[in-house]
This record gives sequence, structure tokens and C-alpha cells, in this order.
Amino acid sequence: MTVNPPPAPTRPAPCQWLDELSTAVLVTDGDLRLLAVNSAAEMLLGLSRDRVVGGSLGHWVTLDRNLANQLQRVLDEGQPVSLRGRSLHPLRAPEFLADLVISPLQGDDAEGRLLVELTAIDRHQRITREDQLRQQQAITRAVTRGLAHEIKNPLGGLRGAAQLLSSELEDPSLREYTGIIIREADRLRSLVDRMLGPSNMPRREPVNVHEVMEHVRGLVSVQLPLGLRIIADYDPSIPDLLVDRDMLVQTLLNVVQNAIQALGDHGEIWLMSRILRQYTISGQRHRLVALLRVRDNGPGIPEEIRERIFFPMVTGRASGTGLGLPIAQSLMQLNHGLIECQSRPGRTDFDVLLPLEGAP
Ligand SMILES: Nc1ncnc2c1ncn2[C@@H]1O[C@H](COP(=O)(O)OP(=O)(O)O)[C@@H](O)[C@H]1O
Ligand SMILES: [Mg+2]
Repeated sequence: MTVNPPPAPTRPAPCQWLDELSTAVLVTDGDLRLLAVNSAAEMLLGLSRDRVVGGSLGHWVTLDRNLANQLQRVLDEGQPVSLRGRSLHPLRAPEFLADLVISPLQGDDAEGRLLVELTAIDRHQRITREDQLRQQQAITRAVTRGLAHEIKNPLGGLRGAAQLLSSELEDPSLREYTGIIIREADRLRSLVDRMLGPSNMPRREPVNVHEVMEHVRGLVSVQLPLGLRIIADYDPSIPDLLVDRDMLVQTLLNVVQNAIQALGDHGEIWLMSRILRQYTISGQRHRLVALLRVRDNGPGIPEEIRERIFFPMVTGRASGTGLGLPIAQSLMQLNHGLIECQSRPGRTDFDVLLPLEGAP
């Protein structure tokens, strides 16, 4: 007699379209064991689907009494509930605030199952903040451009006049003074050019981001203090990006140099790369986005300038120009990307986000 093996536990086949959603979605059975987790939920909760499916939801996300009651109520009464602004504590990811919709699933084989949709509130806030920042930056850029042109024109006249004067001067010791005028006019002109930002359109071509990150690491390693370490932590599965290579190099260089300056003699810098799914950049949602992160364990951005660091002339350093970050931000915007920053003492992250267009 042949004995049939016991039937394998039934798991719903993964639905690919669930992974396309930006909302995190979980499905549990009546005992709150996880049956399915989409990509957005994996990201939000720091979970890997292979590990958690079959396990208890309460193990991976601490459920306070109220939330546990609500889940049970939906199971008992079969009516969906919406909860706003609940604090969730995943085992493997930082605590966050979320809006939740908990619905009972209908249908023969779905009876007694729950569908939980989670939207992190930070995400709404991030997008709103990004919109505000974009508007502010557009205004600042317009004002800076106007001002820069006003300075540039008379500067040209000033320099020309000093040159003329210099050629007429008989006493060479006086030429020292015209020399100063010319040199300072040149310095101002280059400052104004930098304030005007990148004038070239990007030449976007397929670029291996890890090659670029290693290139930047090589460039800064030459003058790195002994107590400073740069650690690479790359996701090798990231495909080539369509981006202007020189612009990306300049951007990462500006950000890494800031980290080096913030750290001084001691500390660590991480160059990281990851893929994000369903990420919104400048109001446009992208299915896949490359995240290039420069992290340091320095003192953090001084609080008084933290909200303004992407504006021109905002600096926390005596010898700073306050142009490194606004230039980097403009360069990435020209490439349809964005730089975001989170900073507290001991951990500062600058995230360069670039859409992975045409990636499968
Ligand atoms: N990794 C970092 N850690 C701490 N502060 C930072 C970091 N990156 C930037 N900053 C702050 O942001 C300011 C603006 O940077 P930036 O635009 O590059 O101009 P600059 O370097 O000329 O000051 C810096 O002066 C510094 O105070
Ligand atoms: Mg700088």
C-alpha cells in the first residue's frame, strides 16, 4: 500500500500585482499567522517573505492590546475597520506611524482570513515636504539667478577696466593693485558661476553605479585621515543606471567630502546601494529606484541649519561656501533624481535616489 505524503500547507500563490502596490499588504489566517506579504510590506517591516510566511504576525510586529482587539473584532464581526496614525513596532525595522485598513477576506477558501493594508504616514509627509522643498528651491534658484546675472555684468566691466588701467600704468608696483582687482573679479565670477549651478544638460548613459562609487572612494582616499574608514556595502543586483556619469561623480564627491569634513580625524563612512520599490521622486512614482546612500557616524548636521542645507550659501563651516549640497541636488534633479537627508548625532544619511528606468 502506498502512503500519500500529507498535503503541503496551502499558501496562496504569490500575486505579482500585489508587489506593484506602494501600499504594504499582509494577509493572515484566523490565528493571525502570516499567509502573504507583498514587497512594500517587506520593505516597511524589514521582513523577508520567505522567513515570515507561516509565522505569527505578533512575532514580527508588536501588536498593542488595542490593535490586537481590532484585528480580532474584524475576524469576529466580518466588518472592515480603518485606523489612523497607529504606532507600529516591527521586530526588524524602526518604529513608524501608519494608517491601517483591516478587512475580512471573502470567498470560499479565503474565509477567516484578514487583509491588512498599511500606509506609513511618514511617506505622505515626505512627499508633502518634498513638494514644499521643490517650490522653495525653485524660488531660491530664480532669486539667485537674477542676483548672479546682476553681479556678473558689472564684474566684466570692472575686470576689463582694470586690465586697461594695468596696461597704461607706468609704475609696475601699481600693477600689483590692478592684479588684485582682476584676481578677485575672477574669483567672484567663478563663485557666481557655481551659484548659477550646472548649465549643461546631462548626457545620460548606462552607468555602473558601483564603479562610480568606487571611483569616488578612490578620489577621496588619497587625502583621508588615518582614523577614517570608508566601508562599501553594495547590492550587486543593481543594474546600470541611465545617468550623467560626471554629474553623479560630482554629487557623490560633494556628499562624501562633507562627511569627511564632519568626521574630522576619526569615524566611519558607509557607501551603500539598495533597490527601492514603488518610490515617489518629484511627484512621480517609479517602480524601481536605486538608492545610493552615504552614511557617516559623525556629529550630525547642526540643528539650526538642518532644514536648509540644500539652499545656497547655507553652511555650518567657517570656510564653507554652502554650495556643495545645492549643486549636488540640482545635478541629481537634472537626472530625474533627488537627494534626501536624515541626520542625528551619530548617524547622518544622504540618500541619492535615481529611477531605474526600463529595468525589468
Ligand atoms: N555629513 C554631514 N555631517 C554633518 N554636517 C553636514 C554633513 N553634510 C553637510 N553638513 C552640513 O551642511 C553644510 C552645507 O554643506 P555644503 O552645501 O556642502 O556646503 P559647505 O560644505 O561648503 O559648507 C555643511 O557646512 C555642514 O554644516
Ligand atoms: Mg560641502
